[in-house]
Amino acid sequence: MKNSFFGILTLLLFFGCNLAKEEVVAEKEEVIAEKDEVVYDMYQPSEMANLMNQMFAENLQLKKDILAGKIPTEFPLDFLKIHTAELSEFKSRNETFQSFSKLFIESEKEIFNTESQVPLKERYNNTINLCISCHQTECTGPITRIQKLLIK
Ligand code: HEC
Repeated sequence: MKNSFFGILTLLLFFGCNLAKEEVVAEKEEVIAEKDEVVYDMYQPSEMANLMNQMFAENLQLKKDILAGKIPTEFPLDFLKIHTAELSEFKSRNETFQSFSKLFIESEKEIFNTESQVPLKERYNNTINLCISCHQTECTGPITRIQKLLIK
């Protein structure tokens, strides 16, 4: 009787100790998670950078659709945000930027113009070339990435 009592007691202690250990581990993980968040918080892409990544993704989808023989019909209205989206601190919306935005939007809209006489692939590539032209004026980093959007 006495023995089984101690047995249960040690069992409880054993599990209790393990629980405590798990709590410590969990706490450590939380601390690490918090540190990760801090690192994550430090990189804050601008509204424009987010829009650009979205445009990249949507044009990549367009490329796939065009290669699959689908006809795109709906211009993504979100793209119009290029005229207003906030840029990273060190960049400004100068005249060059504004004229390139206009040309780009007109060209992108043409992709969805089902009555156009210009071949779809050409309209699409013209648009991607405008992405690249604007990037050549001030933000050359992503150019090699953007070139991959072109339909060969
Ligand atoms: C009118 C000029 C202009 C046009 C047109 C343009 N971009 Fe950009 N792009 C910029 C600028 C400026 C930035 C930097 C934005 C910032 O840091 O706030 C940028 C940033 C980017 C980035 C990097 C985003 C990041 O995470 O930092 C990608 C990718 C990109 N553009 C892709 C594209 C694609 C794809 C197109 C065409 C569908 C395009 N851009 C059209 C000016 C332009």
